[in-house]
Amino acid sequence: ASTDPIVVVIDGPAGSGKSSVSREAARRLGFELLDTGAAYRALACFAMRMGIDLDAADVPEQLVPKLDEFLEQYAIALHPDERWVRLGEDDITEAIRSTELSSKVSAVARIPEVRATLTELFRTLLHDTAAPGIIAEGRDLTTVVAPDAPVRLLLTADEAVRIQRRSSEKAGEAAQAVAASVIERDRKDQQVVDFLNPAEGVTLVDTTHLNFEESVQRTIDLIRAARPDA
Ligand code: DC
Repeated sequence: ASTDPIVVVIDGPAGSGKSSVSREAARRLGFELLDTGAAYRALACFAMRMGIDLDAADVPEQLVPKLDEFLEQYAIALHPDERWVRLGEDDITEAIRSTELSSKVSAVARIPEVRATLTELFRTLLHDTAAPGIIAEGRDLTTVVAPDAPVRLLLTADEAVRIQRRSSEKAGEAAQAVAASVIERDRKDQQVVDFLNPAEGVTLVDTTHLNFEESVQRTIDLIRAARPDA
């Protein structure tokens, strides 16, 4: 029926424009927005606050027994004009974007029990979506979390372009450090998502030669091609 909520999932690497494009497309369509990377970041923040050393070898043994506690405390905005993330009463919106946390989050994201737990959480959130719909963005949504979603996109861009977008995002920080961190994150992320080759049925959106507005428009066009009621 035309009142069925439309579920759109978008994967891609750091610097592809995926986050800002997803947010703007959700805004224009009146959809909710789910930033799944923020959940992995919030869990890393939770672990650090529990005193777990994310550089240690025993992170799984320390963290897995605490996953239920994390789920009780974790809350995130789903409206594209809001971007807060909370652990209980604590607002961790800024904390989860720190350079230190960004470099440690993969220690959490690579634990299979963590991925299974967050996958369940994301599926519940997608299932509970109200009309008109939701855009969820991450790394493994098109392949693992929601392979049956009616609209699945892989947003990517050439490495040089992604580095350039990241450095202009972070004024002041040395461009070389940004480049190194993008390359390092690509190396870690590539173990989770193949961001060059879309899975079967997933549409590739290469933003290398698109500006922000063109990327948003292309994304919305693809959503409407699949669901003209969007
Ligand atoms: O997109 P981001 O940089 O906020 O993602 C943060 C981390 O979480 C990054 O290491 C990739 C990981 N992640 C993941 O493994 N699966 C997802 N669906 C989303 C993010």
